[in-house]
Amino acid sequence: MKEVGAAGQEKVWPVCVEASQRWVSLAIDSHVGAWGDISNNAVEAGDIIMKLLITGMAGFIGYSLARRLSGQGHHIVGVDNLNDYYDVSLKEARLAQLAGCDDISFVKLDLASRDDMASLFERYRFDRVVHLAAQAGVRYSLDNPHAYVDANLVGHLNVLEGCRHHGVDHLVYASSSSVYGMNSRTPFSTHDSVDHPVSLYAATKKANELMSHTYSHLYGLPTTGLRFFTVYGPWGRPDMALFKFTKAILEGKPIEIYNHGDMSRDFTYIDDIVEGIVRLLEVIPQPDDAWDPAVGTPDSSRAPYAIYNIGHGSPVGLMDFVRAIEVAVGRPAECQYLPMQPGDVPRTYADTRALFDVTGFAPQVRVEEGIRRFVAWYRDYHGV
Ligand SMILES: NC(=O)c1ccc[n+]([C@@H]2O[C@H](COP(=O)([O-])OP(=O)(O)OC[C@H]3O[C@@H](n4cnc5c(N)ncnc54)[C@H](O)[C@@H]3O)[C@@H](O)[C@H]2O)c1
Repeated sequence: MKEVGAAGQEKVWPVCVEASQRWVSLAIDSHVGAWGDISNNAVEAGDIIMKLLITGMAGFIGYSLARRLSGQGHHIVGVDNLNDYYDVSLKEARLAQLAGCDDISFVKLDLASRDDMASLFERYRFDRVVHLAAQAGVRYSLDNPHAYVDANLVGHLNVLEGCRHHGVDHLVYASSSSVYGMNSRTPFSTHDSVDHPVSLYAATKKANELMSHTYSHLYGLPTTGLRFFTVYGPWGRPDMALFKFTKAILEGKPIEIYNHGDMSRDFTYIDDIVEGIVRLLEVIPQPDDAWDPAVGTPDSSRAPYAIYNIGHGSPVGLMDFVRAIEVAVGRPAECQYLPMQPGDVPRTYADTRALFDVTGFAPQVRVEEGIRRFVAWYRDYHGV
């Protein structure tokens, strides 16, 4: 796997291709734009329900979504640039988990490359797009602002353009609870305005919502933005608290507790996030000519546009979170208490009524259970 792109070239990279009669094999060494041998005719000859693009498929949520959707009759194309924001081997290991899925193919490319993205959309003519690739992380945005503009703004525009020019019937994309910024009214509601971000990361996510609304309005592209609340679980991100705390506790190292422990997060288990995405993919926003801007809320529009929170809806105090990890790991944590970090918010809490109203689904997994599953995965994955 590490050979992929090793020559500095982006390549079409089959996660799994030849096993299926439905697929012709991709030429491994083809440049993006040349696209090897995959034939749309071959794709359409099968009983494909839909052609689906997942951006950020080597990432935590993208991988988990691909795994969930595989085997349901879709042709899934995943893209990712496998950047080194965190350990690339974890991204490769996630992709390796998908290696047995003959309905998934993978293309290594950078969303910020306008030409490569245009070729991707031209080639596959997706029915639906789940856009999860982004430069994530609040703290990293303080020192690396340009990474956020490239991936989150230029990348999002390239996704919107692809959808616009190829008649995609639904774009679902990742926003974030961080857009709530300075909002203090809880639970955080999509009915409230979110005009006071406190990090560039949050500002790019809010910008994604605004850009999407414009495309919904101008081109009738149905878009659904999903504000995820602190996602955790097996195959999770090494830059996030659960991963860092578990690692440190197991290694007998101290953990950093920000704002002296006076923080809370609405932790949401990965399976619940994925279930929310899968259900909302089927809820395609419709234009509403009767929409009145004088009374309409920010999550609605005359255009086919929607915004939802996906969160557990029950904030957990940071020290309760640490105690649950101690129980799961079976060792005490050594805590180092630090002030609030720039760009951070003290608490998050999702109002998930709208999600339930349209899908009948509410996130289920309690944080103690989710942590237990994560720690079991972490020990197994790292052999510790
Ligand atoms: N995990 C959370 O708690 C959380 C919370 C709120 C929002 N989100 C959002 O959900 C989405 C998925 O998050 P995640 O936790 O899976 O993050 P992740 O970092 O694990 O996954 C993102 C993937 O996108 C890829 N990527 C980044 N820039 C790219 C580019 N320019 N071209 C191609 N690929 C690129 C990365 O390599 C990575 O594999 C992101 O948009 C993130 O901002 C996540």
